[in-house]
Amino acid sequence: MYGEMLEEEILRESVFVDQSKLLPDYVPERLVHRDEEFRKLSGFFRPVLENRSSQRVLITGPVGVGKTVLAKKFGQQLLPAAKRRNFRMDYIHVNCRKHRTPFMVLHRIASYYNPRLPPRGFSPEELLDMTVRWLNGHDAYLTLTLDELDFFVQQNGPDLLYSLSRATEESGAPNRLSIIAISRSDRFLNVLDPATQSTFMHNRVRLDKYSARQLSDILAQRAKEAFKPDAVEEDTISLIADIASRWGDARFALELLLRAGMFADEERAGKVTPEHARRAKAEVHPEVRREVLSELRLHEQLLMLALARRLRITGGAYVLTGELENAYRVACEEYGEKHRGHTQIWQYLGRMEGLGLIDVRPSGRPHHGRSKRISVPDVPVGMLEKELEKLLKKKVKG
Ligand SMILES: Nc1ncnc2c1ncn2[C@@H]1O[C@H](COP(=O)(O)OP(=O)(O)OP(=O)(O)O)[C@@H](O)[C@H]1O
Ligand SMILES: [Mg+2]
Repeated sequence: MYGEMLEEEILRESVFVDQSKLLPDYVPERLVHRDEEFRKLSGFFRPVLENRSSQRVLITGPVGVGKTVLAKKFGQQLLPAAKRRNFRMDYIHVNCRKHRTPFMVLHRIASYYNPRLPPRGFSPEELLDMTVRWLNGHDAYLTLTLDELDFFVQQNGPDLLYSLSRATEESGAPNRLSIIAISRSDRFLNVLDPATQSTFMHNRVRLDKYSARQLSDILAQRAKEAFKPDAVEEDTISLIADIASRWGDARFALELLLRAGMFADEERAGKVTPEHARRAKAEVHPEVRREVLSELRLHEQLLMLALARRLRITGGAYVLTGELENAYRVACEEYGEKHRGHTQIWQYLGRMEGLGLIDVRPSGRPHHGRSKRISVPDVPVGMLEKELEKLLKKKVKG
């Protein structure tokens, strides 16, 4: 009986041929509506390819507009382009939200050249030095993308950026390291020195939100790769494009399409209809960023859960820190975790603010001392709560 059930599930008709083509990390063959931006980026790298000099470029734009995928696509082309000109150029893409300290970034780079590098035992300076020596020794060049750099700089300051810029210059050899910085806004530029600031301002590729038409083209292209022919109705694509166009966010649009497809399979519908898209919309929100939430540390997730719960229960716009701490302790107890102390909680909150997950403001009440008001940006807290409960269940109860 179970054998049959297994076979039935495996052989069951699905609307998908390959779901993974809809996941956020997948780099599609073609970028739709980004040719101009690709050309602009290429133009900035002309001196790098022609004269083996170095370059610094900034890519900015709001959430889900293709900053990461543009840089990766460009990186893929860079290697063969350098090869055609008889030199070696590597491309490394580092997400600075995940690799959140200078050590982690530099370790990631150094271990690209030395995969057996032990996880500990080197200072950031040594790691950088190792990389520079490797590049010099092999007469190689490197283009490094520092993705989501705004969060990183907010937390760590700009020193990493400076030491990377200086790194290969000081050794007297040509500067072998080019940098592509990616950020949501250009606010982080304010903390940089005027020279670096002005380089980035001049060498900048700005991506705008996608329109409904553009989103529809992106969805159609991806649907071709992910679904069986004709499995997605045209109306479904235009509905999703319309929904997502309010944010101009392609990641959100693709996630809606994926969910809609999963609903279609659940119902064994054989086709993805607008109704599936509507159901998907009730479950996905562009500002409930799954990958960001899932990469938080355990106690940051617990704090976030406590915050979402308080906001839902009180129906208010914000929660005071004392109140949040209590709710956090309750959450810790529920998940069998020992709660952290005051100072640590403040550190977590600072980081979560840096990630754009929460908003922290003075309480505005004279008797509340250091107390602050904490709120979340415009997201449905119920959805946030559910998402965190899912994550925590996986993490804590294994
Ligand atoms: N022009 C495009 N053509 C095809 N797919 C695209 C395009 N732009 C974005 N996408 C897809 O949309 C999703 C989001 O894009 P990406 O991750 O590059 O956004 P981002 O600007 O880096 O967002 P964030 O600020 O959140 O990091 C990815 O799955 C990406 O492949
Ligand atoms: Mg990105």
